[in-house]
Amino acid sequence: GFDGIWASGLALSAQFGVRDNNEASWTQIVDMLEFMSDATSIPILLDGDTGYGNFNNLQRLIRKLEQRGAAGVCIEDKLFPKTNSFIDGEQQPLADIDEFCGKIKAGKDIQNDRDFCIVARVEALIAGWDLGEALRRAEAYAEAGADAILIHSKLNKPDQILAFASEWANRKPLVIVPTKYYSTPLEVYQRAEISMLIWANHMIRASVAGMQTVAENILRDSTPSNVEDHIAPIDELFRLQGAAELQLAERRYFGDTRKATRAIVLAASRGHELATLTDTRPKVMLPIGGKPLLQRLKDEFKRQSINDITVVAGYKAEAIDLPGINVLLNEAFENTGELISLQCAKSDFQDEMLVMYGDLLFRGYVLSDLLDTPGDIVAVIDSAKTQDLTSGVPDYAYCSARDDRSMLGTDVKLLRIGEKPSCDLGEANGRWIGMLKIAGRGRTLLEQAIDVLANRKDAGKLGIPSLLNYIVEQGHAIQVIYIHGHWLDVNSLDDLDRAGDFTAGPNQAKFR
Ligand code: SPV
Ligand code: MG
Repeated sequence: GFDGIWASGLALSAQFGVRDNNEASWTQIVDMLEFMSDATSIPILLDGDTGYGNFNNLQRLIRKLEQRGAAGVCIEDKLFPKTNSFIDGEQQPLADIDEFCGKIKAGKDIQNDRDFCIVARVEALIAGWDLGEALRRAEAYAEAGADAILIHSKLNKPDQILAFASEWANRKPLVIVPTKYYSTPLEVYQRAEISMLIWANHMIRASVAGMQTVAENILRDSTPSNVEDHIAPIDELFRLQGAAELQLAERRYFGDTRKATRAIVLAASRGHELATLTDTRPKVMLPIGGKPLLQRLKDEFKRQSINDITVVAGYKAEAIDLPGINVLLNEAFENTGELISLQCAKSDFQDEMLVMYGDLLFRGYVLSDLLDTPGDIVAVIDSAKTQDLTSGVPDYAYCSARDDRSMLGTDVKLLRIGEKPSCDLGEANGRWIGMLKIAGRGRTLLEQAIDVLANRKDAGKLGIPSLLNYIVEQGHAIQVIYIHGHWLDVNSLDDLDRAGDFTAGPNQAKFR
């Protein structure tokens, strides 16, 4: 509800941590003023000290202030570099009246916006001169073209100000800064026909007191618990910064090119082959190079701007304590497999999503290529893994074309995923690595397939391959993207060794 803002020289200096002696340069002041101007719609009057030099410097200042949206500038009749009026005011020399009048004229001549205001501040009473000198100066400045006169006093009572106002008789608008005589009721000033009152430094003083108290408290108590409820919530900062407006704009301007993708990670199993290592935690929480598998997976997602992550846990679910993920529980994890785990995540399904095993390590391009590949359902197949499986369940993939490694981007479809001996499709083309992308109609296909298979008697034994095979049998296409190595899953103690190498960086990586 305030009518305007005083861009106080004292406050601006203080927030830069310097003295009110023109230690902050005029360009630093003008830069800050630009941010203030961006953040408000009410007029800003800059405390321009002495104008940072002579008439020429003031002209340049005013040109810049107009460009950056200030409504006016106040200049005081002292010498550059100035000192705050409340520090040894009596010692402060005043500007020559004619020189100061020339400055005012130069300012009025240069302004483009006819509404731009120049307020002339009379420091005579601060410097120990009498009312007569103050009035003489005010008269000269008004004559030179000043739009208003600021009369300043350092007394604890408004006597000087009221005497001045009475003599001045509203020849031009009068402005006061009652920092020292703050307790006088407003009506007194209204009666004296004072036009504008500036509460010059109360905001910065409030901030300083707040910061000192909070800092002392946190240090003393080793926790912010006792002050947390008394300080502005983070959301209040977001509101002031206009965070919601940006979110709306992102939706509008990024459009469909950045559809939110959710990652669904299946992480319910213990990893029996890993023996005592999984006594207290599920396989996905095993540290590889000091970082749990699941954290590594999360980091890969973040790199691709995937921030919505659901993990379906089961065995030792409570050990999955990473922030920023939604953990869902497959309570029947002991007697069921991935199909039922995926069913548990149905409430989190999105039109665009990834479905993957939690024990995967892969090079970053594998995920980014998958995200870039169109198709309702896309499966990543490793064509290097046709024979020598080291461990785990072999999800052999049979596809419409083999990977000749020159046919980048060729349209290859999945025919079947299965265990090798029981499959009659000839030589496998690779191995499904446990990574899917769902888009377009894919979500519906997946949901329908889950509904059917989860009701079968053997549902507990079924994994994701059964789901994919069912979808293919129903006549729907599953797109294949081939890779050649560059990943592994962790099923055994040997795999753990390999995983260490895989994540160790280019000099030590033995894994290809
Ligand atoms: C300022 O706010 O910088 C002023 C007003 O010039 S005062 O500090 O009260 O003199
Ligand atoms: Mg000032």
